[in-house]
Amino acid sequence: MTLQSLLSEVDMLQPEAIQWRRYMHQHPELSFHEKLTSQYIEQILLSFGNLLVSRPTATSVMARLIGSSSGKVLAIRADIDALPIQEDTNLSFSSTNDGVMHACGHDGHTAIVLGVAKIFAKYFSTHEFSGEIRFIFQHAEELPPGGADEMIAAGVMEGVDWVIGAHLQSPVAVGKVGVVGGAMLASPDTFHITINGKGGHAAQPHTTVDSIAIGAQIVTNLQHIVARATNPLEPLVVSVTQFIAGHAHNVIPGSVQMTGTVRAMEPTLREEVPRQMEQIIKGLTLAHGAEYEFKYSYGYRPLINDANVSKLVADTIVELFGEDNLYTIKPSMAADDFSAYLNCVPGTYFNIGAGNVEAGIVYPHHHPKFDIDERSLAVGMKVFIASTFKLLSLA
Ligand code: NI
Repeated sequence: MTLQSLLSEVDMLQPEAIQWRRYMHQHPELSFHEKLTSQYIEQILLSFGNLLVSRPTATSVMARLIGSSSGKVLAIRADIDALPIQEDTNLSFSSTNDGVMHACGHDGHTAIVLGVAKIFAKYFSTHEFSGEIRFIFQHAEELPPGGADEMIAAGVMEGVDWVIGAHLQSPVAVGKVGVVGGAMLASPDTFHITINGKGGHAAQPHTTVDSIAIGAQIVTNLQHIVARATNPLEPLVVSVTQFIAGHAHNVIPGSVQMTGTVRAMEPTLREEVPRQMEQIIKGLTLAHGAEYEFKYSYGYRPLINDANVSKLVADTIVELFGEDNLYTIKPSMAADDFSAYLNCVPGTYFNIGAGNVEAGIVYPHHHPKFDIDERSLAVGMKVFIASTFKLLSLA
């Protein structure tokens, strides 16, 4: 068995992978409700033979390809959920589930990893290998608290040495593949602040404790954390995204509700921010005679790729497609719960270009007209297969 023969399998498998992707695209399901999707994936995996297929949670699937002797264990993860978006693509395989759409490409991720599982399951029925390849089809990437932590609690990472995963990218041309070592995505935490003042007549502000005036100071002072209280070389976003108060032009409202998000990449900075926020909120409300409630909820962890595994995957991409088709991912303050697996073991999350300007595949993720160039499926399968070859020293 050679890597070359497996890679040529990918080209033969491509039409089938497209069928899987289109079926899932036509039947999308929301996070934590991937009932038919997980059944569909399970049935396909069972048809390959050689795989130990299980259901770690109600709507997720795991398949293990276990070698003839013990060795290193590589996990490959795909997310399987869709979004609450009304599709507007006019594709022949558009969503048949009103108001639900695969608008982030998770249908493609699933098809790619199914293809990789099929090819390895077939080859290892006649070839021996040491170790294990574990395929993780994870539910609920799009909706915090996310499916990854549930799957890890169910034991999917037990005995695993490395993890790799990938995300399709419609803003990047098909054929390009991106990797970055180190921090890639942020932690998307959320907060809620209530300021309780004292309402009253707007003509007599001295008889009130103006929750809006205090709330406005809190909004501007929170930026002090970003601008003055933290290291400028460590990225941080603090955004107040909701400010709800009042109902009349002549009434000072008794309270203000604020909601927002904090994004960070350094775990220690992330731990520090809620304390600094509360200090500002406490100080300003105390100064003006109001009271506050502050709730801070941790979202997914920052996504930090391992340098060595990232380099191995980057080298693999160059060998497969040439230097010109490898790009370095620019870190962003978006998030993905693949970070939960990377918190367990080293690994990398790479990006697969799926855009095509000439074909009109130009819409961003989470857009009603989002689509992918399906040639990206073969690109993704090849990167996973060749990287697995290296990590598990197959040949
Ligand atoms: Ni996504």
